Amino acid sequence: MTELLQPRAIGQDHVRRDGELKVRGTATYAFEAPAETPAFCSPLQATVARGTITAIDTSAAEALEGVLLVLTHQNAERLASTEDAELAILQAPDVAFRGQLIGVVVADTSETARHAADLVRVTYAQQPHDTELSADRDDLYKPEKINAGYETDTAEGDVAAAMASSPVTVEQTYETAMYHNNPLEPHASTALWNAAGTGSLTLWESSQSVHSFRSTVCTVFGLDEEQVQVICPFVGGGFGAKGTPHANLVLAVLAARALPGRAVKLALTRQQMFSLSAYRTPTIQQVQLAADTDGRLTAIAIDVVEQTSKIKEFAEQTGTPTRMMYASPSRRTTHRLAALDVPVPSWMRAPGECPGMFGPEVALDELADALGMDPVELRVRNEPEVDPETGKPWSSRHLVECLREGAERFGWADRPPAGHREGDWLVGTGVASSVYPAMRQRKSTATLRFEDGRYVVEIGAADLGTGAWTVLPQIAADALGVDAARVEARIGDTAYPMATVAGGSSGTATWGSAVVEAARAFRGKFGNDPGDGDEADGSAADVPVDSEHAKYAFGAQFAEARVNVDTGEVRVPRLLGVFAAGRIINPRLARSQFIGGMTMGLSMALHENGVFDNRIGQTANHDLGEYHVAAHADVGSVEAYWVDEHDPHVNAMGSKGIGEIGITGTAAAVVNAVHRATGVRVRDLPVTLDKVLPGLP
Ligand code: MOS
Repeated sequence: MTELLQPRAIGQDHVRRDGELKVRGTATYAFEAPAETPAFCSPLQATVARGTITAIDTSAAEALEGVLLVLTHQNAERLASTEDAELAILQAPDVAFRGQLIGVVVADTSETARHAADLVRVTYAQQPHDTELSADRDDLYKPEKINAGYETDTAEGDVAAAMASSPVTVEQTYETAMYHNNPLEPHASTALWNAAGTGSLTLWESSQSVHSFRSTVCTVFGLDEEQVQVICPFVGGGFGAKGTPHANLVLAVLAARALPGRAVKLALTRQQMFSLSAYRTPTIQQVQLAADTDGRLTAIAIDVVEQTSKIKEFAEQTGTPTRMMYASPSRRTTHRLAALDVPVPSWMRAPGECPGMFGPEVALDELADALGMDPVELRVRNEPEVDPETGKPWSSRHLVECLREGAERFGWADRPPAGHREGDWLVGTGVASSVYPAMRQRKSTATLRFEDGRYVVEIGAADLGTGAWTVLPQIAADALGVDAARVEARIGDTAYPMATVAGGSSGTATWGSAVVEAARAFRGKFGNDPGDGDEADGSAADVPVDSEHAKYAFGAQFAEARVNVDTGEVRVPRLLGVFAAGRIINPRLARSQFIGGMTMGLSMALHENGVFDNRIGQTANHDLGEYHVAAHADVGSVEAYWVDEHDPHVNAMGSKGIGEIGITGTAAAVVNAVHRATGVRVRDLPVTLDKVLPGLP
């Protein structure tokens, strides 16, 4: 149990502190870091999906005026560590996937660099590649663990027996597509190597974690932490793509070290990001549900097939929500991977829960239909007393309250009958649950100092657009008992104390815990009347992590779909979500996280689909013209609400992460609404008109 802070600034609508800088265009992003006469990089990418480079002719590029350098595996420095094969670029002639980095041109201008990159001639000994994911491959394997260290498979009771003996069952296969994170700001670096002494590197990098990026750079290049500073005050979105370093960072540092004293700038183009930044693996989910006639589950199971790259394992934890969402005496989850000649999959908003709340939440709707039962009631009926997997009590769980309040606000009771028609449009509504773990890391430290009559909090946290600049002062203010206007945050720099990633929706919980500890230490040492320069540190590691409870945020999402009877066009005019995510620290910013997640979920439901061309081994629609992300015209009304939740087990703020839960369950709610409108059950995302049209009346 933690004593929760008395909320004064917490819970208030403080305006985003970085808002004005961003609106005025004066916030400095990584590519815009100040540098005298910088040089510009243009990456070279492999144009085969598997093979060996037999020759690279860089002479025409090097002869171009303004070209400073062309690096390839033939002349790039040898890295100190090649253990992470995604990052070990320009070390050998081997090509592991199409789009992999094989070189870089550095020039006085970005135009010259790009032109010169086009002049480099690469010859390959191409080998056959294998990029096609399917559930009936005979080489699927069971990874040792799935991401976040979870067990790969779990089982309890006898699912097969329950499926055979229960009066109502659902057994279906669901598929989610390949999704690309596509933050607005591309992956970008400004890197400056100062060769004096033992050398030092200054790196302005678009990142969700300056400290972990620094430690990776140190490992890969064999540098000491004192030699490297990573700076990142502002991030134009990441959605996980900037949660861990990708090869573009290594390329920028290779270029900088080859040009000592001159800052080099590297920003991936949108097309390059499709093979180099991050993407979510497609998933194939076989789901089984069995129930009694009163709707009580007797079995729930999910068997997941997904892909990883041959050079680096990434095992999305898609089955994990099925382990804890609903009560059922028999349960099974499994994960199998296909290792392919594809770009390396990585983190994307709500890894695990986002795809994993699609299949099962649609299957529940199918079960409700089979039972003739309201899908809200079906979920309520299967509410577990304790975490089914671990037997631990919930730190707090208010899914039922979310479902009830959502139903009330949405007008669920008056939902139109199945197949309801208004003019040329079929109208239906659907529901699904949301979930995301409430995590906190331990390795974060904050310094609190009194300076010129103000309290300054320093911590190497990252604000990827989510609000850390604003909420950390709110938390410090309540821990100190002062007005938030008297607190200034300094974040996004390894010059400040070590902080963990803005990821896993754990940032505010972790950094906030460190800030509270620092404030308490400060008050203990200096009382309420500190002097200039007084300072104290606090660490999240000093706050014991509760391991007695299962800690999650929950939610319920409701969607209205309209499907055109002639064209099959699907519109979603209305989304409504109610969340139970602990104490909401800043309602204005929290609302934007929830509706942002829901909008991304809508985008996943209707539009997003990386179409992988297996002939050449690359995402064919690798630009925002063809990979459609929901735009304003696609998004109708999106409302987010939350229920008050008092959770003394999570952290001193009583807060749970809110950055990711909004995308979980949304796509299922939309699919369920489309089914109610049309009678067509789409089980493979996205819900495009070609899938709906053949089944329309
Ligand atoms: Mo987020 S995908 O946990 O960086």
